[in-house]
Amino acid sequence: MKVLVTGGAGYIGSHTVVELLEAGHKVVVADNLCNGSEVALQRAEEITGAGVEFVRGDIRDRSAMDAVFAQHDIDAVIHFAGLKAVGESVGKPLTYYENNVHGTLVLCQAMEAAGVRRIVFSSSATVYGSEAPVPYVETTPRGTTSNPYGTSKAMVEKLLEDLVIADERWSVVLLRYFNPIGAHPSGRIGEDPQGIPNNLMPFIAQVAVGRRDELTIFGDDYETADGTCERDYLHVVDLAVGHLKALKAVSHPGVSVYNLGTGQGVSVLEMVNSFTRVTGVGVPYRLGARRAGDLPAFWANADKARMELGWSAEKTLDDMMADTWRWQSGNPRGYDA
Ligand code: NAD
Ligand code: WQD
Repeated sequence: MKVLVTGGAGYIGSHTVVELLEAGHKVVVADNLCNGSEVALQRAEEITGAGVEFVRGDIRDRSAMDAVFAQHDIDAVIHFAGLKAVGESVGKPLTYYENNVHGTLVLCQAMEAAGVRRIVFSSSATVYGSEAPVPYVETTPRGTTSNPYGTSKAMVEKLLEDLVIADERWSVVLLRYFNPIGAHPSGRIGEDPQGIPNNLMPFIAQVAVGRRDELTIFGDDYETADGTCERDYLHVVDLAVGHLKALKAVSHPGVSVYNLGTGQGVSVLEMVNSFTRVTGVGVPYRLGARRAGDLPAFWANADKARMELGWSAEKTLDDMMADTWRWQSGNPRGYDA
């Protein structure tokens, strides 16, 4: 297949590009580089020995998207492009809705005009909201999201569902990611957040490499086994492979929704301890206050992806730690170096 990967120069996108190329697909990446790097794509080419066609462009730019579809015979779109900082989205709702919702709308208009109606969308476990029973299962309706980022994901899910209702030729796969971490085992591509990391794993890695003094653990008084929050962390390469499996599902018209997670909750303290056990590198931490909006514990029921896509997470927590450290220690300043 020839696949357009929006946001392919970012963290999950670049890992997915590697898996697509290794499976023999042709890849066109469209990315405005607001949070991605062309170096990631060069390294994806180096890892695979295959070429990527890169278009520096914005999904909100209709003529740029029309040009991509005019110049390439695209079979399907994997749509990663978007903004993802939960805290930032609270202060900048218009920026988030404009980029994530309007951007997807323009992309879909260009797809419709070009007659390309297969899309795999990066959604999030956050669409279940705060009241859903754990583990989260796809049959539970979307809940109330607590920030514009999460709401933008729920809105795009609805937008894509409505497209299928209106025109049954559309084929949509909504992938709800849990907490992707880790890096390619080569150590050549990985997560490279700008500024202070919002997420746990890159923060741990930056403390370990000496870029930050200590981790603050946000709350140790939750009703969990050790009092810290539990999440379903999955290896980014497993997640990337999930997109390959989804490409097969996107060949059938309709909407399909899949959770992509391991099905296991791991606490913040377990994450810190595993990192040190696997890498031998200590992570100084202090116990701090709860972070507003955090849920105590959630993880996936990933049975549907296993049964229908033949996908399940294969890599272990130790793999996630070792691969994160290989990337971070080999690239202490990320792609900037
Ligand atoms: P990322 O920021 O590394 O990648 C997103 C890419 O999209 C970046 O390269 C950025 O430059 C590009 N981009 C953003 N807006 C664009 C626009 N308007 N036009 C063109 N390119 C644009 O993020 P990621 O972690 O790789 O996440 C990829 C997708 O998965 C996002 O949609 C995100 O919301 C979703 N997701 C991520 C997580 C996570 O924990 N990382 C969890 C659930 C869902
Ligand atoms: C994990 C745990 C923190 C940083 C977010 C988004 C979600 C999805 C994935 C996109 C929590 C704790 C964190 C730190 C800490 N993204 N923590 N100290 O919050 O589960 O999910 O990213 O869709 O929508 O909300 O992930 O990595 O931020 O936090 O103690 O410095 O680590 O409190 O319990 P989260 P996270």
